[in-house]
Amino acid sequence: MPKKIDLNAPHMLAANLECKFGTGSQVDFMLAGKLLLSDDKSVLPALARFDGPTAPITVLEYMQQLGGDLTLWRMRLMKWVACGLLQPSEGTQLAVAGADNSYDGIGGVLSCLNDRTRTLAALEGIARTVRKGDNVVDIGTGSGILAFAALRAGATHVYAIEPSPAASLAQALAEENGLANRLTVLRAYSSDIELPVKCDVMISELVSQDPFSEDMLGVTADARARLLKPEARIVPAQLTVYAQLVSTPEHFQGHEWPTAEKIGQWHKDFGFSFNAVAELATKTRKLRDRQRAGQGELIRPKRAADLRAYSEAVPVANIDFAHDDLKPTGEQHWTANLTATASAAEAAILTFYELDYGGGSLYCNGPSATIGATMRNPRLFTDKKPLTLEAGQVVPITFSRKGKASTLRVTEPG
Ligand SMILES: C[S@@+](CC[C@H](N)C(=O)[O-])C[C@H]1O[C@@H](n2cnc3c(N)ncnc32)[C@H](O)[C@@H]1O
Repeated sequence: MPKKIDLNAPHMLAANLECKFGTGSQVDFMLAGKLLLSDDKSVLPALARFDGPTAPITVLEYMQQLGGDLTLWRMRLMKWVACGLLQPSEGTQLAVAGADNSYDGIGGVLSCLNDRTRTLAALEGIARTVRKGDNVVDIGTGSGILAFAALRAGATHVYAIEPSPAASLAQALAEENGLANRLTVLRAYSSDIELPVKCDVMISELVSQDPFSEDMLGVTADARARLLKPEARIVPAQLTVYAQLVSTPEHFQGHEWPTAEKIGQWHKDFGFSFNAVAELATKTRKLRDRQRAGQGELIRPKRAADLRAYSEAVPVANIDFAHDDLKPTGEQHWTANLTATASAAEAAILTFYELDYGGGSLYCNGPSATIGATMRNPRLFTDKKPLTLEAGQVVPITFSRKGKASTLRVTEPG
């Protein structure tokens, strides 16, 4: 009997999936030694979406994000679900227990390598930061790529820490590149590790869509206290969060956000009344809940680039990982003013961030960055309802971090 496929159900990559790469463009997906499917390598970034920081995701949600002509994608996604490559998230396990919302597993490592702009910026920053003779700790080494760059820059030794099965990939690649004698792979969380020396440099890439959700602050604070010399350098060195007034995207206005104007337009166009849509959407939409909680919604950088800017991008929060008091479990609040450059009936606030990987080697996931593909999406906030703007109006905002989650709100007067 053919398998029942529910495109509305959250799906993830099958746990313990193995990829076998041939010399051509083909990749074989194996589960427990059995071939599930052969496909083209070009599908890997799309598949990684089901194992990355925002997984699980529903197949329909994913198609919505892709936009464009979806016929081919629909067939492909159905095939992936049918053969068991994508599985309903209930009952599936991440490769590392307790590490949900992280980039662990094969998909995560691939999406890091596929994020070329980020990886090149990180390699450049490491080349500028690491000095000959340094001992380096790479926390969350994944494939080991950043550890290898530290060795290329002259590090004496790198301790590469990785709790997921990717640790064995890092070991294999270190051997393949003739670097294994200067690199120690430790399969564990950094908080469980003691090192034989205090390190001169820490490299760690625990920054996700919400820059705090992978516990970069907690991991860094712990490493600074136990694993690093007091004057140690950290890659990335700084994180800066930006906010900008923008137009709301079509899909927000058309589907996700049934405004009074939209409902009026449907009434006019189709001759039926649609008031119940607003009520139901308010009650049921996850998006609306997230917006209410000030958490925003992820948006692809390409889509963000299509939005009209209604203000300059303003730096709101800055963190210097090596020097700031990081207060990982505490709360922080940053305020800023966004000045509208034009009037708008429905505006929203976009946040994105810039990482300084060292010596000014920058990576940004914002709309002005010419990023072809990035695994980190900017976030769009609409506050409690879309903003109405007058040209010259000042919109005061508060960006807050509580532990590992950040929110953004328009600051209430008084
Ligand atoms: C974004 S990936 C980066 C991989 C690699 N460094 C790169 O840049 O391509 C983050 C990695 O950190 C690992 N990780 C998450 N929390 C960790 C922790 N507390 N200690 C060590 N590794 C951790 C995850 O398993 C994941 O492989």
